Amino acid sequence: MSESTGSRPALDLEAFPPSFAWGTATSAYQIEGAVAEDGRAPSIWDTFSRVPGAIDNGDHGDTACDHYHRWREDIALMKELGTDTYRLSVAWPRVVPGGDGPVNKAGLDFYDRLVDGLLDAGITPSVTLYHWDLPQALQDRGGWTVRETAEHLAAYTTAVAERLGDRVTRWATLNEPLCSGWIGHLEGRMAPGLTDLTAAVRASYHLLLAHGLATRALRAAAPGARIGLVTNHSTVAPASDRPEDLAAAARMDGHTNRWWLDPVYGRGFPTDMRELYGVELPEKPGDAELIAAPLDWHGLNYYFPVTVADDPEGPVPHAREVRLPDVPRSGMDWQIDAGGLEALLLRLTEDYGVRELYVTENGSAFPDTVGPDGAVHDPERTGYLEQHLAACARAVRKGVPLAGYYAWSLLDNFEWAYGYDKRFGLVHVDYATQKRTVKTSGRRYADVIRAHREATAG
Ligand code: FCB
Repeated sequence: MSESTGSRPALDLEAFPPSFAWGTATSAYQIEGAVAEDGRAPSIWDTFSRVPGAIDNGDHGDTACDHYHRWREDIALMKELGTDTYRLSVAWPRVVPGGDGPVNKAGLDFYDRLVDGLLDAGITPSVTLYHWDLPQALQDRGGWTVRETAEHLAAYTTAVAERLGDRVTRWATLNEPLCSGWIGHLEGRMAPGLTDLTAAVRASYHLLLAHGLATRALRAAAPGARIGLVTNHSTVAPASDRPEDLAAAARMDGHTNRWWLDPVYGRGFPTDMRELYGVELPEKPGDAELIAAPLDWHGLNYYFPVTVADDPEGPVPHAREVRLPDVPRSGMDWQIDAGGLEALLLRLTEDYGVRELYVTENGSAFPDTVGPDGAVHDPERTGYLEQHLAACARAVRKGVPLAGYYAWSLLDNFEWAYGYDKRFGLVHVDYATQKRTVKTSGRRYADVIRAHREATAG
């Protein structure tokens, strides 16, 4: 590496076990481009990104980071950073373009090459099966509001596992079902862009059912698979100690955290939230057991904490987010608080009994610029990274079985409704030329990884 950020990081790196996995994460639609190549069919994000006003600047993923063609260069970047592992997602509309029915061999070939390329580079792939790119053909038949979609996810999972399962062992079923369920069907800010509580609750149920069915499909098709679910969470604080605000915080916690964790860890869907939503769940005998099938690991995506006040007239869960003054914020306007990461890691361990954890995403967007020297200096992102790694180290010291950390993201990429304006990469992408430039934060991450290896060697 030409530029080094210098001395040993002032981080408690000895806290992390020698086997600790250092990684970066991306997802298919955010980086691949090539949306009409080799038999890929449209997903709900191709459709949603054409809805006027849905995406900032009218951006879409048609080209994105052109990773579909530049994946070799991107693996070389991972090597330059010195990472051990890479979290990618497979695009369902490449593999089963119609959502169900025939498997597209050319689509699987791409991931086959990518996995081989990673393994040749000594980088362990971690494969997520569903990172929000539902085939549009299934949306046209009801999408996540209907049970069949969960069954189709399982069939697609089998096709992927039969092809990659001889080389991939670390699998995740879904990425952030909260975003698919709530943001996609209740808030309307993500595909498919609905604002319908009944649709949202049904979608949330079918997403978790899909997780259970995909877990079962993976166990059958790839016996060595180590399977996890990736969920995103926030710590929730009440805006005051008024009883109304305390109750609002409990509701928001139910909406953001318990609804997505309780059923997976055998507690069923929380009763208070069922009552609050007032929507009958499309439950069938045996579903609860499928949803709670034992997992090998859990993936936590963490970005920010929230503070809420009671909002009886507002939308479910009747809790309004309060913007705290004088707290640090990222370019997303998200509050920065690494303590939230520590708290959530502890909660997953102590409350839910998770025995192997990964931070599967964590990172920050800031408006980067390429300097006259050609470098991208991003002290704020570097600081965010350091603070959150320090939080991980504290959690490990307190007994959290944390096995790895994936920085979001390897590359600047298509940040969903925010388009290309929000840059989360450790590597800068100039979208006009597709030139990649490792940012100072990326170099810092490389230094941390190297220092950890030195500290725990032998
Ligand atoms: C998460 C998503 C990921 C990325 C980050 C910033 O919610 O899983 O794709 O957009 O946020």
